Amino acid sequence: MPSPREASQSLQEKLNETLEAVNKTITRLLPETDLPEARLFDAMRYGTLNGGKRMRPFMVMQSAKIFNVDMKRARRAAAAVELVHCYSLIHDDLPAMDNADMRRGKPSTHKKFDDATAILAGDALLALAFEILSDPETHEDPRVRCELVKELALAAGGQGLCGGQMLDLLGEKEEFDLGTISRLQRMKTGRLMTFACEAGAILGKAGEPQRKALCNFAQDLGHAFQVTDDILDVEGEVIHLGKPTKKDDKAGKSTFVSAMGKEQAKARAEMLVQQAIRHLHIFQGDRAETLKELAMYVLKRRA
Ligand code: IPE
Ligand code: IPE
Ligand code: MG
Ligand code: MG
Ligand code: MG
Repeated sequence: MPSPREASQSLQEKLNETLEAVNKTITRLLPETDLPEARLFDAMRYGTLNGGKRMRPFMVMQSAKIFNVDMKRARRAAAAVELVHCYSLIHDDLPAMDNADMRRGKPSTHKKFDDATAILAGDALLALAFEILSDPETHEDPRVRCELVKELALAAGGQGLCGGQMLDLLGEKEEFDLGTISRLQRMKTGRLMTFACEAGAILGKAGEPQRKALCNFAQDLGHAFQVTDDILDVEGEVIHLGKPTKKDDKAGKSTFVSAMGKEQAKARAEMLVQQAIRHLHIFQGDRAETLKELAMYVLKRRA
């Protein structure tokens, strides 16, 4: 149950609290070093500690709360998910992929450092995420740790984020139908968000129906999130987004906006958010209230 303090907080206050907590955890996990290879760690810190909404960590924390998971453990899983997300952004911005010069209001990691350093920083962040999940500090039960590692591997790999990114790039050359675009978006964005919510359930040793409900919620919300990202690429403002806009059309990307137009894409995002919220009905009272608020926020966001 949400504490009386949580019940009185706005979503923005709760998001800020997670942002600060996850930043502290990541800072601790990535201490400054004066080793000769310090440049790699500087790039890892640069790519992770310069902004970001911390949506995925928030999903981990909020789903963990439903099952009364110890918050210290949840923060470690939240940091692991965010590191994978940050790695994916660093690589996504490289010239070989989206070739974007700005991220979170600052030069992209490869612009600040160089391509090779950005590639290595991304690789090392991905590896660090698994190191965190496999550490007994994340959970004393090795089966729980193993499950976290396996599910993150599935979310990040060929069936998930990487497979989705491959489709995203292929979709620049080929015009995909709506079914393929949906699959692409669920893989490149939905899958990691699914892991974020599932991680809370795994840490809390939740029952199968609860775990499945959270996965379904996150899959639909992740899809809606990517549709709104595509809409923001067309009508958002650089000052809010902190990244270049109007790039998808130029690159010839297959998105919901390219396939059905902005207005229909907005309607689709709304439908997906409503669908996401319906999966949460399994949770009684106001246990999943904040996740519902988060889902509504995805439709209104400007950043
Ligand atoms: C951007 O994700 C990439 C997508 C999957 C659409 P976010 O919009 O969550 O980026 P940050 O973390 O807030 O910078
Ligand atoms: C990126 O999608 C999804 C990832 C898995 C990184 P986009 O390429 O649309 O994300 P932005 O717009 O650059 O943040
Ligand atoms: Mg991309
Ligand atoms: Mg991009
Ligand atoms: Mg985008």
